Amino acid sequence: MGFSRRTLLVAGGLTVLGLPGCAVSGDEIGDDGSGKVEVFSWWAGPGEKEGLEALVADFRRVNPGVEFDNAAVAGGAGTVARTVLATRLENDDPPDSYQAHAGLELDNDVAAGYLEDVRYLYDQQRWRERLPKGLVEALTFDGKIYSVPVNIHRANLLWHNPAVLKAHGLTPPISWSQFLSQAAVLRGKGVLPLSIGPTWTQKHLLECVLLGELGADGYTGLWSGATDWKSAPVQEALTLFVRVLDQSDVATAAGDWQPALDKVVAGTAAYNVMGDWADAYLRTKGLAFQQGYSVVASPGSEKVYDFLSDSFTLPRGAPHRRAAEQWLIECGSVSGQDAFNPQKGSVPARLDADKAKYTGYLAQAIAEWTDSSTRVVGSLTHGVVAGTKRSAAIDAALTLFVQDRDTVRFAAAASG
Ligand code: GAL
Repeated sequence: MGFSRRTLLVAGGLTVLGLPGCAVSGDEIGDDGSGKVEVFSWWAGPGEKEGLEALVADFRRVNPGVEFDNAAVAGGAGTVARTVLATRLENDDPPDSYQAHAGLELDNDVAAGYLEDVRYLYDQQRWRERLPKGLVEALTFDGKIYSVPVNIHRANLLWHNPAVLKAHGLTPPISWSQFLSQAAVLRGKGVLPLSIGPTWTQKHLLECVLLGELGADGYTGLWSGATDWKSAPVQEALTLFVRVLDQSDVATAAGDWQPALDKVVAGTAAYNVMGDWADAYLRTKGLAFQQGYSVVASPGSEKVYDFLSDSFTLPRGAPHRRAAEQWLIECGSVSGQDAFNPQKGSVPARLDADKAKYTGYLAQAIAEWTDSSTRVVGSLTHGVVAGTKRSAAIDAALTLFVQDRDTVRFAAAASG
């Protein structure tokens, strides 16, 4: 895969308050192996809870005496969970482990001293040799590592219902302008061109439009500072994003990402842009890949893997620290990843996982992810390329942007 320092932003220069590896814990795993671990995530909805359940089942197999306390808070992309988590961390009430993403998203928690450096687990489990180098770089803050990756998801995907496209004589668009031409045809036939959900899904669409229009280098430069947000290509891409959004049900969409995909399944919408957790969700509906649903790279982003990686942390002061370490070891293990990812719609972060376990869409995904000619870029919406502050500024500006369509104002807010 085409990971490189240039394609990923690596956090540097963060001030880490507090000392690593010395949290005081009360309750531990007993000599008989008994104990408890409270794990906080947002994998509570259909298509996500199945993956978590598979990982927990493998965790229980390895740690039969440890009770798993599932503290999942529903809501796509963790939008609800993050608020709940922030309050718990501020109140010095951390879970034993919480879900995060590889990348700059953890900057705040690291700077606030909420997390332990888990490099000792990386040494003990020899994870550095077993994970892609670029992923380890994305996980590193000022030489330290604060979470353990369980998977690799791809964000830049366009989902569709093959029967619907066939009925209208269409094949998936390879550029966003081609999408707009198709949208006119689809509208004429009473089909919604693109279904969408809440603000985070609009941000997800935005990153895919920017990637498709600016290419991997131009997109990556938006986060490194090499691409000027005020430049004509970025301004044009932002204008195009609004035009794409005009072809969606943004004004009336009420549900999360799953109901948006339901419209594609029902054939009332032609396309949906979403990460590959959609594959897991669509399978829970009994649909078969290539028959009930299909997918291509989002327009203009073929051969590019806009990646994100779910990872789990060790909060300072975790009440059940030893059990939390066992959980992290599970997340980073081959058996854990090969139990979790086929259910979750993601590919393993580990390089030595069993590829035979990945079928359907996932066989295609793992082939692309491990292809050295694939270019890897990091997701905005899912934590890789923007820190907490910048990402929140983009969220606020985006809500305004979809109303006022002021590309200059949005660019000023997004440029960080
Ligand atoms: C992402 C997360 C995925 C999936 C998705 C939708 O942020 O990394 O694993 O859960 O949100 O909720």
